[in-house]
Amino acid sequence: MNPTAAITAIGHYLPKDRLTNADLEKMVDTNDEWIKSRTGISERRILRDPNKATAFMASEAARELLDKRGIGADEIECIIVATVTPDMMFPATACLVQNEIGASKAWGFDLSAACSGFLYALNAGARFIESGKHKKVLVIGADTMSRIIDYTDRTICVLFGDGAGAVLLEPTTDGVGILDSVEQIDGSGGDFLNMKAGGSLHPATHETVENRWHFARQEGRQVFKHAVVGMADAAANIMERNDLTADDVKYLVPHQANLRIIDATARRMGISSEKVMLNIQRYGNTTSGTIPLCLHDWEAKLKRDDNIVLAAFGGGFTWGATYVKWAYDGAAVARTQAEHEVEAQAI
Ligand code: UT7
Repeated sequence: MNPTAAITAIGHYLPKDRLTNADLEKMVDTNDEWIKSRTGISERRILRDPNKATAFMASEAARELLDKRGIGADEIECIIVATVTPDMMFPATACLVQNEIGASKAWGFDLSAACSGFLYALNAGARFIESGKHKKVLVIGADTMSRIIDYTDRTICVLFGDGAGAVLLEPTTDGVGILDSVEQIDGSGGDFLNMKAGGSLHPATHETVENRWHFARQEGRQVFKHAVVGMADAAANIMERNDLTADDVKYLVPHQANLRIIDATARRMGISSEKVMLNIQRYGNTTSGTIPLCLHDWEAKLKRDDNIVLAAFGGGFTWGATYVKWAYDGAAVARTQAEHEVEAQAI
């Protein structure tokens, strides 16, 4: 029997600094009521230290994960980092993380799929486990969106925040783990959400800087229209393919771009709001970070055999959904972690 890939540990990193709606009111012509009612966001985290970026957050998330799983970095065989805000064009963020955490036996690469990045990286990582090639794959979603956001543009600066989440994939033959996935792209949507300069078509020039082409930009209404349909279709599709009813699904783990898109997905799946992991109000849209940050926040509630559906939509367009049967009781991990912290304080 071929193994499946189980998520066996989660780590995360969030910068301490908060950017609230009240702060944004002082920066652009916006208001708390508009932001909350149109997006669901109240505040986001911002990585202020100019000497730190995505690789730092990704490495911190990885360190927490290794500590929780009780393994050394030298046990990791492959590192996949989903990001659209790498520290630099190359080397890959995965190489920076590998060096930073001392994962001496790992290879790895970055995966660029905007807000679907973590979902795609998870599915790609799962294939290495299923094929028997690797026994420990580290999948990280990390983005420092504040570095590519124009804080004079109210249509975009209210949406994004910084953060990172990481999961460990290991083989199992117990019927749990990543059981199915659907992925789609539609490149005709590329003009609606992108960052125009900094690649080989428009390398940095005075003109690209003056035109503000090194910032992300989107046509929100267009992206919204496609995201509502894409994310809901993908989630419904994965339920149908796996004979899952709304009762069978314990949690939806949606990409956190807009509360209204998330609500539409939950409605399409026929599930109630208590089954929806939601932290957009606190972190905004952290791009590749949203899904693993939700898993981190809900870890203590997750139980072995829980059916969870992950769903995302992002620039590209990219979108998809993944069906995971959860592999461990999160409450036990939370207890051990708390004991660990008490012991550490006593030393
Ligand atoms: O994660 C990757 C995928 N990204 C997404 O899924 C984002 C999808 N899009 C969205 O979430 C929504 O389109 C937004 C939240 C970005 C915008 O919400 P909307 O309901 O689509 O608003 P809109 O763009 O249609 O703008 C409505 C009005 C406009 O004014 P007029 O033209 O009606 O006078 C905007 O200029 O709201 C105005 N507006 C704002 N007002 C106050 C736009 N941004 C702001 C703002 N504060 N921050």
